[in-house]
This record gives sequence, structure tokens and C-alpha cells, in this order.
Amino acid sequence: MGQRRLLILAVIVCLFASSCGRELKLKHKDNHAGYNHTLVKILVEYASAVYMSDLTELFSWTCSRCDGLTKGFEVIELIVDVQNCLQGYVGVAKDLNAIIIAFRGTQEHSIQNWIEDLYWKQLDVNYPGMPDAMVHHGFFSAYHNTTIRPGILTAIQEAKEIYGDVDIMVTGHSMGGAMAAFCGLDLVVNHEAQNVQVVTFGQPRIGNAAFASYYSQLVPNTIRVTNEHDIVPHLPPYYYYFPQKTYHHFPREVFFSFRGDISVTMH
Ligand SMILES: *[C@@H]1O[C@H](CO)[C@@H](O)[C@H](O)[C@H]1NC(C)=O
Ligand SMILES: *[C@@H]1O[C@H](CO)[C@@H](O)[C@H](O)[C@H]1NC(C)=O
Repeated sequence: MGQRRLLILAVIVCLFASSCGRELKLKHKDNHAGYNHTLVKILVEYASAVYMSDLTELFSWTCSRCDGLTKGFEVIELIVDVQNCLQGYVGVAKDLNAIIIAFRGTQEHSIQNWIEDLYWKQLDVNYPGMPDAMVHHGFFSAYHNTTIRPGILTAIQEAKEIYGDVDIMVTGHSMGGAMAAFCGLDLVVNHEAQNVQVVTFGQPRIGNAAFASYYSQLVPNTIRVTNEHDIVPHLPPYYYYFPQKTYHHFPREVFFSFRGDISVTMH
């Protein structure tokens, strides 16, 4: 467990180091519509902070990562699902004039275990109200069938009562990225949220082509940041013989490499 945490932190630290250690070059289109590198650099900090294990420091925003670009953040609610080992927080970044929601994926099982899960479990949940849209049961349930979702929704309500109808930015790394995507979609589909932006890091694929298509229409402000040395985003493999059951990434993908190159690809 400790090792896994270290691994994740290492991945995040590498990602962060590569993104802030040097000037990033855009490999392809420099002015890709909607891609805001300043914002991505801020959100990776929020996505990393959710891994901090001292909940008191996290809540009071005094943890070691709770500084710099995220200074002044006000946590509204920390949501912890002990049984499923999931964690998230909702708060307000006054400098961005936005509610920030960050998810941490499970830490209980080794990374190996849930990668194997991804390989062998089918896309066996039909996303409610979207014909032909199949999603991965595990990720869908982690958001929709745990104490995480009600906790997040209540906290957003609380934040809105204080700060009004500000923008909502949802982020997460790895499995937390998958939950962030389900959350962003949920807010748009079921809670009439406007101005929802989703930025994920090393997010695994979560649904088939039909789902990806619905998703990108409903939450167009989504950016997946991936790292070539992080194998998670490349799993599970495509199942060529069952196209309706294959996983598809969202259309917009930002690619980080450790050399600090970055590209934005549209599929
Ligand atoms: C990028 O995001 C930052 C932080 O939210 C914001 O201040 C800036 O105006 C944005 N830039 C563009 C081009 O939207
Ligand atoms: C939700 O969780 C409960 C208990 O953990 C389980 O029995 C049920 O099958 C789950 N539903 C879905 C759709 O995964």
C-alpha cells in the first residue's frame, strides 16, 4: 500500500516536474482551441493534493502540496469512502472563481490488480439514458454506487450557496480521473450544471465509442493529459472484433512526455 502510494506520487511528481520544469513545446497545433496550459498546471496540483494522507492537513489546506499554485484554496468538504478506499474533496479556488472537485482512486488494491480487472471485465453497464453507451462497471460504480457521489453533490450545493453559480472544474489522476469524468458528466446530465470543465491525468478508458461520443458532446470542455510512461491510459486494449464493446478515449487528448513535449491530438 505504501509502495503504491509512492508509485502514484512518483508518477504525479514526474508529470508535474516535466510540466513545470521547463518551457513546454507544442508538438502539433500551438493554439489548440480550449487547451489552457496554465490551467492544466494548476489542476495537476489539485489532483496531486488529494493523495495526501493527513486528512486534517488536507481539510485545512496546509498539506505540503497545498501551497504555490493552489494557495488560498478553501475546502468545503472532504469525502472519504472508507469501505471502498476512495477519497475526494470539493472546494473553492477564489483566484479561478471556480469550484474544484478532485478524486483519488482506490489505494487498497495494488495497481496491478485493477489493471487486471480492466483487462478481464467487460463494458457491462449501459450508461443510463444513453442507448448503446457502455461503460466499465468498476469505474462507474466507484462514482455512482458509493458514498462519494452524494457527498460531492451536497458539497457542491453548499459551495453554490456561498459563492453562487461559479464554474466547476473536476480533476483526478488514474482511477480518480475516471471518476472525475463520470462526475463531470453526471453534473451536466443530472444537475443541469453549466461551465463544467474536466481535466484528468493518466485516466484509463471508461467506455465504448458510443459513450465517448455522447460524452464529448455533453462535456466538451474535457482534457485528458496522458504520459507515455504511465501505462494506465493505454489499458485496456482495444477489442477489434467487438467494436461496440471496445473502449474509446474522449476526442481530445493532451500528451505529455518526460522530455517535456506536449501534443494535443484530435481523433
Ligand atoms: C487560462 O487559465 C487561467 C487560469 O484559469 C486564466 O487566468 C487564463 O485567462 C486562461 N487563458 C485563456 C486563454 O483562457
Ligand atoms: C451497488 O452496490 C451494491 C452493494 O455494494 C451492490 O449489491 C449492487 O449490485 C451495486 N450496483 C451496481 C449497479 O453496481
